Amino acid sequence: MSNCAANAGLGLTIYRGLRELRTYHNPLDLVRERSPERPVALVRLAPVAVAARWFQDNLKADVFYAVKANPSRWVIETLVEAGVTGFDVASLNEVELVRSVSPDARLAFMHPVKSRAAITSAYFDHGVRTFSLDCHEELEKILDATGQASDLNLIVRMAVSADGAQYTLSGKFGVSPDQAPSLLLATRQAVVDGLMGVSFHVGSQCMRPTAWQAAMAQVSRSISRAGVIVDIVDVGGGFPSVYPGMVPPDMSEYADAIHRGFNEMPVSETTELWCEPGRALVAESSSVLCRVDLKKGDALYLNDGSYGSLFDATHSRWPFPTKLVRDGAASAELKPFRFYGPTCDSIDHMPGPFWLPADVREGDFIEIGMLGAYGVAMSTRFNGYGEHEVAMVDDAPMASLYGLAPRSIPTVRTTAEEQARKVVRLSRPKGKAGVRKQRRR
Ligand SMILES: Cc1ncc(COP(=O)(O)O)c(C=O)c1O
Repeated sequence: MSNCAANAGLGLTIYRGLRELRTYHNPLDLVRERSPERPVALVRLAPVAVAARWFQDNLKADVFYAVKANPSRWVIETLVEAGVTGFDVASLNEVELVRSVSPDARLAFMHPVKSRAAITSAYFDHGVRTFSLDCHEELEKILDATGQASDLNLIVRMAVSADGAQYTLSGKFGVSPDQAPSLLLATRQAVVDGLMGVSFHVGSQCMRPTAWQAAMAQVSRSISRAGVIVDIVDVGGGFPSVYPGMVPPDMSEYADAIHRGFNEMPVSETTELWCEPGRALVAESSSVLCRVDLKKGDALYLNDGSYGSLFDATHSRWPFPTKLVRDGAASAELKPFRFYGPTCDSIDHMPGPFWLPADVREGDFIEIGMLGAYGVAMSTRFNGYGEHEVAMVDDAPMASLYGLAPRSIPTVRTTAEEQARKVVRLSRPKGKAGVRKQRRR
C-alpha cells in the first residue's frame, strides 16, 4: 500500500513517509528555491523525538500517542523510531494508519462511541483489544461486536472537571460520578481475561498540573463506591504546549502531580498507569508556511485559514507566533495584523493580533509556528482549498517546553496597551490589614 493510500481519509495533506520528505535547512531556503503555491507544513522531527523521550523518562506511565492531534505518517514513524509503542486511536482510519506503519503497535480505541462495524474490524482485522466506553449501551455493543470476546481490555471514561484547561473535553463524553459505580461494576463483570480500567480527560491545553490530582481523587471516590479493583488508570491527554500568552508550568510539575495523585488512589501495586498525550508530543514540531495573497490595511489574506490549519486561531482566537520569511530586508517596525483565509466564508478570519514587519506585502511568505497539534489535522476541502505540501526543516521550533528553544513566546503590546500598563494603581495596604481588606471585597 502506498503511503498516500494508507492515509486516505485522514485529512488532505499529501502525507509522506519520512524518507520521501525533502529537507531544507530552514523555511527561507525553501522560499528561495521555489515559491510554493500551496501552504507547506514545515516538519521538524527532533521536537517529536525529544518530547517522546521526556514522557518515557519522566512519567511512570505507558504512553499512548493520541493520533488525532496529528495523524501524519511522519509523526507515527518518528514516534515509533523513538520507542513509542502505544497509540490512542479514535477511528478505523487511524487504526489502519498506525498498523500500516507499525504492525506491532499497541492500539487503544479510546473513542467512547464507535460503530459496530468499526469495533468488529478493529478487533478481528487489526488485533485491537482495548476499547473505551462511558455507558451500558456501549459496553453491550463492544461485547456483541466482538462475539463476547474474553480478551478485551475495557476502559470506563469518567467525566471530570476541566477547570484548568483551554478546551473542555468532558462535555460530550464521560460517565458522571452518580452513574459511574454501576457502570464500573458492570464493566468489571464483563472483563474475563483482559484488564479493566478507568480513564478521564482534564481538557486540552491544561495549564494546571493539580487538575490531574483532583480528577484522580474524584475517580477514586467512584471506584470506592463501586467496590471494584481497577487494573489501569489512564490519565488521558491535556498536557500543554507554549503559545503566545500561554506559558505553562514546568513539565516536571505535571509528572509530580500525576504521581502524587496515583499514589493516593485505591488501586493495587500491579495497577498500570497510562497516558494519552497528543498536543504535548507534536505541537512544537510543525509550523505552516503561508503566502500573502492580498494586503488590505491591517488585514492579510492568506492561502491558509480556519478551514485549513488555523482552526484554533479562529475558534479559540489563539494568536499563534509568526515570522516573515522574505529573501531581502524588511521593516524593523512590527505592526499587528489580522488574517483572512482563502475561502469565501466570513468566519474564515483569524483576529490575532499577529505581529509582522509593517511592510509585509502581497507575495510574501509567513511562517506560523506551534501548529503541530490540531493544525493540518483539522483541514477541510471547503471551497477547493485545504491541501498542504510537507517539507522537513532543520531549524529550531519557535518555542519549546523541552529545551529546544525559548520556553515562552514574547507578546508584543500595542501602544494603547503599553499606556494602560503605565496607569498608576494605588497599592493595597500591606500586612494583615491589607489581607483583611482584600477578603472583605
Ligand atoms: C480520548 C482522548 N485522549 C487524548 C486526547 C489528546 O488530548 P491532548 O491533545 O490535549 O493531549 C484527546 C483529545 O481530544 C482525547 O479525546
